[in-house]
Amino acid sequence: MKTGVTIGNDETPLKRRKIKGESVGDQELKHVVTPTPSLAASDISESVICTVNRNLFADTEGSFLSRSRATPKRSEPKAKKKLIFGRLVDEINIQPNVRKVYGIIRKLTGSIGGNGSHGPIYGELTMSSMQKVVNLMKQHMNFNSNSKFIDVGSGIGKPNLHVCQDPGVKLSYGIEIEQARWILGMTCLKGVLDAAVKEEKDIDEAYDDEIILHRCVFECGDIRSANSFNPFTHVYMFSIGFPPSLWIHLAAMWNSSDSPYLICYHGPKDIIDSYEFDVVLIAQAPTSMHGSKEGHTVYLYRRTTHTGEEITSCDPLFKNLDKRVDSGLHALKDDITEQLQQCVDSGRATRGKRFK
Ligand SMILES: C[S@@+](CC[C@H](N)C(=O)[O-])C[C@H]1O[C@@H](n2cnc3c(N)ncnc32)[C@H](O)[C@@H]1O
Repeated sequence: MKTGVTIGNDETPLKRRKIKGESVGDQELKHVVTPTPSLAASDISESVICTVNRNLFADTEGSFLSRSRATPKRSEPKAKKKLIFGRLVDEINIQPNVRKVYGIIRKLTGSIGGNGSHGPIYGELTMSSMQKVVNLMKQHMNFNSNSKFIDVGSGIGKPNLHVCQDPGVKLSYGIEIEQARWILGMTCLKGVLDAAVKEEKDIDEAYDDEIILHRCVFECGDIRSANSFNPFTHVYMFSIGFPPSLWIHLAAMWNSSDSPYLICYHGPKDIIDSYEFDVVLIAQAPTSMHGSKEGHTVYLYRRTTHTGEEITSCDPLFKNLDKRVDSGLHALKDDITEQLQQCVDSGRATRGKRFK
């Protein structure tokens, strides 16, 4: 049965595959509420969650997106909600598949995550702050299902797994230097892929934004092994704590790339004046951190010389990535499972070992 849905003020119907056993009536969807950008970052509270109704309308005939390239079309509700303390806040809509993924990660890593030699707490955004960043990227950076996203220092992989679902990027790649964190990220990815396989039987009856997408790869390695960011369109880094030597390499790498968009947590004084990235600032916003009251500003930059042309070259470090995600959910799941097994059997499965 094909049905459509509208959310808030959005008039565009969202195609729907109905999940078995679910009634096609009013259905509940959770929204996270964060303050308007004019409020201090430290005021942002992820714990404020409210529930609103999702209205379902009978849909006319229409084609459904395929599993591997499902592109949810839900746009942000424009309504404001009043918090218990009386503040007005913008609602941030978080897709069901994104919520499912964070639920899987939470189960596997605990509520803090980020395990590694430096202890359990490290820098990562709350789910709602990450959604805010994703929304800004959609708004200002042409971030969509054709994008190729890299997280430099991917940790346990939350940003990668998030954008893999929303907007459902073509390639979500994370590189992490610390083996313990990479293994945690791989464990989370395996959990997500296992869940995707399990849900496959219900796929024809689920909404597009409920379906868990798979186009994500994690590797253990040092970003300094690459000389350019090609073929990535969106280069993301939670850059707090990066040493100057790494910045110097990243700036040289960026200036030898064609990647149009850079997202990081350092302002123009560092990025443009000190390290001389070839970029202009296009947006910025406060974000809040998981497990602490800390807040950081995210900065969105565009390459000064961006022409809009497709990136055709690829740094040798990033070859084979498209092939791996194109191989499909089952092949990727087997690949990830095998890599994790190799780790258990013989220690670190490095890129060198895998792609000789
Ligand atoms: C603050 S964490 C951010 C994790 C993740 N990006 C997130 O936002 O949730 C930064 C990560 O960068 C990794 N890192 C630092 N230098 C790196 C390098 N040269 N190559 C790859 N990863 C690196 C660290 O090990 C750490 O896990």
